[in-house]
Amino acid sequence: MADFPKSVQHFIAEFKELIGRSPSPATSYIPRPYRNAVIRARDCEIEDIELRADIAINQAKLNVFKFPANYLPGCDLLSDSGTTTMTIQQWSQLLLGDEAYGSNEGYFKLQQQISNTFGERWYCKEKQLTYDGSTRYFDDREKRADFFIFHQGRSAEFAFFNTLIRSLDVKPAASKASNNWDRSEFHYIIPSNGHFDTTEDNIHAAGIFPENLQDKSDINFRGNMDLDRLEQLLFEAGDRVPLVYITITNNTGGGQPVSMANLKAARLLTEKYDVPLFIDACRFAENAFFIKRREAGYESRTITEITHEAFENADGFHISFKKDGLVNIGGGLAIHRDGLFSEKYPDFTEALNDHQILVEGHPTYGGLAGRDIMALLEGLRTVVREGYLAHRIGQVERFGEALEARGIPVMTPFGGHAVYIDMDQFFGFDRSRDPEFRGISFTALMLIAGHRLCELGIFAFDKQWVTGDIDDPEKRVNNVRCAIPRLAYEDQDLLACAEAIALLYNQRDRIPGVNVDFGLDKTLRHFKADFSFRK
Ligand SMILES: Cc1ncc(COP(=O)(O)O)c(C=O)c1O
Repeated sequence: MADFPKSVQHFIAEFKELIGRSPSPATSYIPRPYRNAVIRARDCEIEDIELRADIAINQAKLNVFKFPANYLPGCDLLSDSGTTTMTIQQWSQLLLGDEAYGSNEGYFKLQQQISNTFGERWYCKEKQLTYDGSTRYFDDREKRADFFIFHQGRSAEFAFFNTLIRSLDVKPAASKASNNWDRSEFHYIIPSNGHFDTTEDNIHAAGIFPENLQDKSDINFRGNMDLDRLEQLLFEAGDRVPLVYITITNNTGGGQPVSMANLKAARLLTEKYDVPLFIDACRFAENAFFIKRREAGYESRTITEITHEAFENADGFHISFKKDGLVNIGGGLAIHRDGLFSEKYPDFTEALNDHQILVEGHPTYGGLAGRDIMALLEGLRTVVREGYLAHRIGQVERFGEALEARGIPVMTPFGGHAVYIDMDQFFGFDRSRDPEFRGISFTALMLIAGHRLCELGIFAFDKQWVTGDIDDPEKRVNNVRCAIPRLAYEDQDLLACAEAIALLYNQRDRIPGVNVDFGLDKTLRHFKADFSFRK
């Protein structure tokens, strides 16, 4: 065998043995509500274990982001974002993309689709001549919201927060460079049930403190906002809160859903204290599905009806369409015209328009090609289908159960888009071994097995070391995330991945730690770092 470390040689032999076994039968045989129409051939076989060991160690330096995707014959569970397999209906829409520089045809269709998906409150078309395929007529409905297209979620966030700070009375000082997470030094605070990391970093970089107020107490809706803490914050410092955010589902909190009751209660509170409420809407359809399945009174409502009701509560929302838009690229930001936000910041939309023209392009395409807009339209129609959602959420659940059945410590109940493996429980909590970053070693060995997972733990969240949260068992986050791309894998693929995880779990004492050869002190270090296995 090539000159791999002894521990790696051991696992190469083990992975070979594993794929030689006949797979355990799946416990569930529910047909998928779709069939394959296109496939991607793989550039390497599952048997090419030494090849992947070589690439992982010598080329990717054990960093999952640097491992070439075409050498992953198993499940690529790095992210559920932008990794969707588009439907053939979406592919057909690509041909209808209108690549005009201004006011392409899809732009108006997207505006219409936004109100179809999120409700009349978000009707965002100017009065205009309209053609419905057979008749031309003048549509004179009043525009109720402004909708801005971006190339992805974080560019919408960046534009939003950087435009917002220009409208605030006290100008926040940019804080990113100082790595300052001391709340007392920030004038403004934007609370959320769980800011996603790019949202958190964009808020922080704009000089505002991002506060997370998740309430995990409701087992059905562990993504909820902690309403008591929110009220306390608004009571004590409401004038320093430019807006409140609710993220559905709560990605940072494990993809856990937020109940309609919680959303409405948050709305009442923000109204009481005269503070706008925004939604981070990336997984709006998955959240609506959980509401339908778990919240009394919604059993017979459609996903679209539930979504409309949820979005009645917001003054604006931003979205990465790379999740529940079922597309590989795209984002958006909606601002309601009569909402509290527009009242407080009347110049905001004009300033945002300027930003968009300077950074993304003309507002009618906002960083997307005309064809991307058409695929998005179609994706928004598909994502609210109940059959699709039942299979999607069910698949995540079945994968989680397969891990659980193999004794692997996973976060339960399972979220909508990912299963999280608790590394402290996996390895047996041992604070003294933190600097060995065994979550990184585990994901590196999984690459060799042919599957990709992502450490979202004590290496990725370096802020935990800065804030001291790493020492607080309540706040410490040390997970490896298995995010399931939409419409990409069959249950059988995921079971193969579960088997490889189980193999490593059963021999966890043999998993070596890693040295960090580059990037320990870099910002966003998990994207950049190089590692090697310890001897
Ligand atoms: C909740 C949430 N908000 C925002 C984003 C950022 O979106 P994007 O990756 O399109 O920039 C993500 C991405 O994963 C997310 O999960």
